[in-house]
Amino acid sequence: MHRSLIAIALASAAVVPAFGQDNVVGSGILPSAATNSATRPMSFAQSVPTKGALVIPMRSATLPAGAVDATTAQALDAAIAAAKYEGKEGSMLSLRGIGGYSRIILSGTGDEGDRIANIRNAAGKAGQDLRDEAQPIAIAGGLSADEAAAAAFGYALGQYRFDRYKTIDKKAPPANPVTVVTSESGAADTLWKTRHAAMAEGVALARDLATEPANVIYPESFVERARTAFGTTANVKIEVLDEAAMRKLGMGSLVGVGQGSRRPSRLMLVEYRGAGTGAPLAFVGKGITFDSGGISLKPGAGMWEMKGDMSAAANIMGAVLSLAKSKANVNVIGVAALSENMPGGNAQRPGDVVRTLSGKTIEVLNTDAEGRLVLADANEYVIANKKPAALVNMATLTGSIVGALNDEYAGLFSRNERLAASLLSAGTATGEELWRMPLHKNHLEDMKSDIADIKNVVEGGGPGASLGATFIGFFVDKDTPWAHLDIAGVNWADKAGPVTPKGASGWGVRLLDELARTYRVE
Ligand code: BES
Ligand code: ZN
Ligand code: MN
Repeated sequence: MHRSLIAIALASAAVVPAFGQDNVVGSGILPSAATNSATRPMSFAQSVPTKGALVIPMRSATLPAGAVDATTAQALDAAIAAAKYEGKEGSMLSLRGIGGYSRIILSGTGDEGDRIANIRNAAGKAGQDLRDEAQPIAIAGGLSADEAAAAAFGYALGQYRFDRYKTIDKKAPPANPVTVVTSESGAADTLWKTRHAAMAEGVALARDLATEPANVIYPESFVERARTAFGTTANVKIEVLDEAAMRKLGMGSLVGVGQGSRRPSRLMLVEYRGAGTGAPLAFVGKGITFDSGGISLKPGAGMWEMKGDMSAAANIMGAVLSLAKSKANVNVIGVAALSENMPGGNAQRPGDVVRTLSGKTIEVLNTDAEGRLVLADANEYVIANKKPAALVNMATLTGSIVGALNDEYAGLFSRNERLAASLLSAGTATGEELWRMPLHKNHLEDMKSDIADIKNVVEGGGPGASLGATFIGFFVDKDTPWAHLDIAGVNWADKAGPVTPKGASGWGVRLLDELARTYRVE
């Protein structure tokens, strides 16, 4: 080897990160240290810029008053008539060469339903369309403070991109600012800064974590990424249990899932206290950084999608980040139950029996029903150590929920009517909607094991999502208000939605943020 090549090889060898206690070097390929995408700075103003790209939310075929000057309005009216554009919800008309503007996008809100949601969505669609636009961007059209903040938020969610592994023809993502025009610019700016900006950051964190491949995000690196995101945010306390600690406590169900992997499991707890000493709301998420199925191996086609099997844990971290960074007047604790489910030589086998923290025993009949196994121990740990006022689980738990609800709704399972009602209305308010699914006492009967307290699957199937929920609920004491959200159908967008580009959706950041702010602890 040439001398300088040796020098380069040695230099890069020196920066190979330590991969945990086993010193796993994996493929030896260094994960990119490049930052992900740039985001455009957001601000609010009272007058409409006369150049750059302009987005106008449209209720109908009529231009909102004051969006543009008279000459531009005349040209736009002609274009609207020629295109028979009606401003319908979700419709867009993109125009070039009008006035001094590089582009004008008319983005339809329609005239029905929730005005704020419609504006957020119209801005989100425009944000996706303008992802490569080099010019500064303005959004204008007689917006109130609430509407302007919603437009900024929609734009922020829509512009999301994940660029860090592209090296060919890589263009720097445009970072020119977005200006949202409103006569109430001060109020809009306050709304944005005190709530929406943090929520957008939470969603981006969740999407980043879920999009990263499993050779980059594994339990330990998930913890480090989340830790970095929280930084020195006030009133946040982070605790992490490693495998030795969990073994010592007897968390055999969680540790069992990760024991076929060279990447050791972790339990990460992020507590945000914005409301003094009251009992926190606990959000406990499945964080399987890769789900191969384990010894009950999954088929190869589409298996890559299981890099996103930690979405729930990521979304929960995003929600807690949003609440903490916006200094919300709430107490919450976000928990990530982190393991990699792999078929290694030390992997657990179908038929193995494991014991949870509380001493309950589980017969693991299928190692691919692993989400419920990590959540069993995580729930017991949180209830015993944090005494939460209520506990919400979130998990990409079953293919069964995808069959039932696809990507329109996440499945809601709950034994508590008040918590269920709060979740349903938070879903309606945020557009991250839930559909209530059944829990029946027969389900628990069906899950009785011949040799242990419970088995993790029912052979022959049955109502898969309900059985999974029932299993998780078995590890939550009856006095703690409890709900479980099965997000296997909503965590990944196969096609773009109004505020969700194709890919990891960060689903539930907004829902849990809203729940924490509206749920009244009894
Ligand atoms: N992570 C999967 C569920 C999943 C499936 C998420 C499709 C996203 C898309 C989960 O761990 C799993 O493997 N579930 C099994 C459970 C079965 C073995 C009882 C399933 O749904 O098939
Ligand atoms: Zn899984
Ligand atoms: Mn699985």
